[in-house]
Amino acid sequence: MLEIEQYMVNELGGADAVANLMNPVPVVTEIVPTPVTVITTTVVPATEIDVDGRIYVKTAGKLYIKTAQGKQCFVASYIEVIANARNYGGQSWGKIVQFSDMDKKTKKLFISNSDIVANSQAVIKDLADVGLVISSDHNSVNSLLHYINLAKPVKSVNAICTDRIGWHGNIYLFHDNTFIGSSTEQYIYTGAPTGNHFAVKGTAQSWKESVATLCKGNTLLLVAVNVSLAAVLLRLLKMESGGYHFYGESSTGKTTTLHVAGSVHGDPDQMIGTWRSTTNGAEGRAKKFNDSLLIMDELHQSNPKDAGEAAYMLFNGKGKQRSSVLGEARAVSEWRLNCLSSGEMPYAAFIQEGGKNSRAGQEIRMLDVPADMEAGYGAFEDIHGAKDSHAFAELIKKACADNYGAPIREFLQKLTEYEQLQRLESDFIGVKERFITDYVPADASGQVQRVASKMAVVALAGELATGFGLTGWDTAEAYEAVGRTFTRWLSNRGTVGQQEAEKAVEQARNFFLRNGNSRFLHIHIERGNQYTLFNPTSTCHNLAGYKLLNSNHNFEYIVFPDVLKEMCAGLNLTYAIKTFIERGYLKTEPDGKAQVRHRLPGMGQKRVYHFTDTLLSDAEEPVTEADTLEVEE
Ligand SMILES: Nc1ncnc2c1ncn2[C@@H]1O[C@H](COP(=O)(O)OP(=O)(O)OP(=O)(O)O)[C@@H](O)[C@H]1O
Ligand SMILES: [Mg+2]
Repeated sequence: MLEIEQYMVNELGGADAVANLMNPVPVVTEIVPTPVTVITTTVVPATEIDVDGRIYVKTAGKLYIKTAQGKQCFVASYIEVIANARNYGGQSWGKIVQFSDMDKKTKKLFISNSDIVANSQAVIKDLADVGLVISSDHNSVNSLLHYINLAKPVKSVNAICTDRIGWHGNIYLFHDNTFIGSSTEQYIYTGAPTGNHFAVKGTAQSWKESVATLCKGNTLLLVAVNVSLAAVLLRLLKMESGGYHFYGESSTGKTTTLHVAGSVHGDPDQMIGTWRSTTNGAEGRAKKFNDSLLIMDELHQSNPKDAGEAAYMLFNGKGKQRSSVLGEARAVSEWRLNCLSSGEMPYAAFIQEGGKNSRAGQEIRMLDVPADMEAGYGAFEDIHGAKDSHAFAELIKKACADNYGAPIREFLQKLTEYEQLQRLESDFIGVKERFITDYVPADASGQVQRVASKMAVVALAGELATGFGLTGWDTAEAYEAVGRTFTRWLSNRGTVGQQEAEKAVEQARNFFLRNGNSRFLHIHIERGNQYTLFNPTSTCHNLAGYKLLNSNHNFEYIVFPDVLKEMCAGLNLTYAIKTFIERGYLKTEPDGKAQVRHRLPGMGQKRVYHFTDTLLSDAEEPVTEADTLEVEE
C-alpha cells in the first residue's frame, strides 16, 4: 500500500536544485501591458533521457515525453527519482521521489513499487495531492508511472526508508538522516518535519559541567535526566513506554525540571510541548518522538477527556488503523517513548475530575510524582550556593539554554560501542533485582512490581551515563534518586485524588470562617423563593454572597459563581464542585446541576452555589466525655 510522507528536504537539496543543475539557463518571461505586448523568452536547452526505451525531455521545471513522431507531450512538473528504498526489514521496496510543489516547496515522497504497478491511481492521486502538477492525459499519466518505476535513481546506493527516528536494529537514526551505530546502509527519514527539537548546542562535556553539575543533590532533576536517557533503552530492553507527571503549585520549578530533561535530547524550548498540542495530534507527536523523550507541560490546558485519550494512545504504542484511498489498511504506526509531564494537579485527579474512571492501568502508566521536594526550595533540594531557589531555577534554565542535545548522542555512542549493547540485558536484570530488594515491599502487587521494573530502567540509564563519564555524579546518586522517587510515588499512590478533595474542602471551610461575617449578608426567606435582607439597612463591601440561618440554627452560605473561583483558587474547579456535591456540601437542582436558582435581594433570580451547613459542622470537634465532665464540674 502507498505509504506517503512529506517534508522539507534537508541534506539532499530540493528538486529545484536538481532541476537547476540540469537547466542552468533560467526562463525569463516579461509581459508589458497593451497596446504593445513584448514577450522575451530565453530557450532552455532540454535534456533527453532514455528510460527503458521511452525518451523523456526535461526542461526547467517540466517533464515531457517524446512521441514516435518527435512531438513533446507534457507529463508533469519536474520530478526526480532520488533512490531505490525499502524498509529496515528489506521489504516494501519503492522509490524516493522529489519535486517542487506549486509554492516552490520541496517535497520528498516514498512510493512503493507495488503501488506503482498495482495501485497506480492512488499513486497519481497522492502525488497530485502533495503538489505535483500532472497532465490529465491518459498517456501522459502512464508515462509518469513508467518514469517513476524505471528511471535510474540519482543515488546508486539503495536507501532504507523510515518515517520514524530511533532504533533500527543496532543503529539509532536522527531526523537529519545521521545515525549512531555502525552500518553501511543509507537511511532516509521520511516522517513529519521536526523543527529544531533535536538540535545540539555546546558539547557533552559542557553539558556535564553545567546542567549535570546543577542536578547533583536534586532528586527530581536527577530523575528527569535519567527518565530522558532511559527513553532510548526501552526498545532494546523490550520495556513499555513510561510516563512521569510532576505536579505541584505554580513556580515550584516543574517546567524548569522539564528543561533539564529536554536538554539531554535537544533544544529544551523546542522539546517542551503542551498537553494541548499533544492531544490535538497525539499519534503524530508520538511518532516524532519515538525512542525518545516526549515532554508535555501544562496539563490544565487540556481537558480530562482529551488528556485521558492522548495518554492511552501514547502508552498503547500504536496508532489507529487507517483506511487508504482504496479502502485497504495502511500500516499501523508504532512507537515507544518516555514521557514527562507537568501540571498543578495530579494526573489521576485531573482525569477523575472528568467524571470518568481512568482506563485500566492508566494510573500506573502516568506516575504522579509530587514536585515539591519539601526542602524549602520547591522542586529543588540543593541550590548550590545560589541566592535563593528562584535564582537557582534561573541558573538551570540558562545552563539548559546554552548546553543541549549532545548528551544523548554521546550516551548512544557509548552504548553502541564495544560490547555494551550485548551486556545491556544482563545489566538491566542486575539493577532490577537490586531495585526490588532495596525499594519494593515484599507484598507489593503486580502493578507496583511493573512500575518498579520501569523505574529500574530509569536507574540503569543513570548508572550507565555516570559510568560512561557523562554526568560527573557519584556512583550511587542516580540510582538512589530513582529509588526515593519510587518510594514517594508508592506512598502517594491512591491518595492523590483524595488529597485534592481534602484540599478543596479545607479551602472552602477557611473561606467561610474568614469571610463569613464580613462578606456575606444575612438574609431570610420571605415567601416562595424570595430572599430578603435580615437587616434592610445592612450593606457590604466586596460582597461574596449571602448567609441564611436554617432550622438547625446553623448558617448556609449562598455564593456567587465568580466567588467560588476565588474560593477554590489553585484547585481544579470542576473537581472541587464534584467533591462538594458528593459530600453533601452543595445543594443541587433536581436535575443534578450544581448551580441553583434563587431570588436574591435586589438582584432578581440568579444562579448561585448553595452550601449546606454540614461543610462547617463536619469539621467541628466531637464533644468527648471529658468535655462533658468538665462542663458539669
Ligand atoms: N523552587 C522555586 N522557588 C522559587 N522560584 C522558582 C522555583 N522554581 C521556579 N521558580 C521561578 O518560578 C518561575 C516559573 O518557573 P517554572 O516554570 O519552573 O515553574 P512551574 O512550577 O512550572 O510553574 P507553573 O505551574 O506556573 O507552570 C520562574 O521565574 C522560576 O525562576
Ligand atoms: Mg510550568
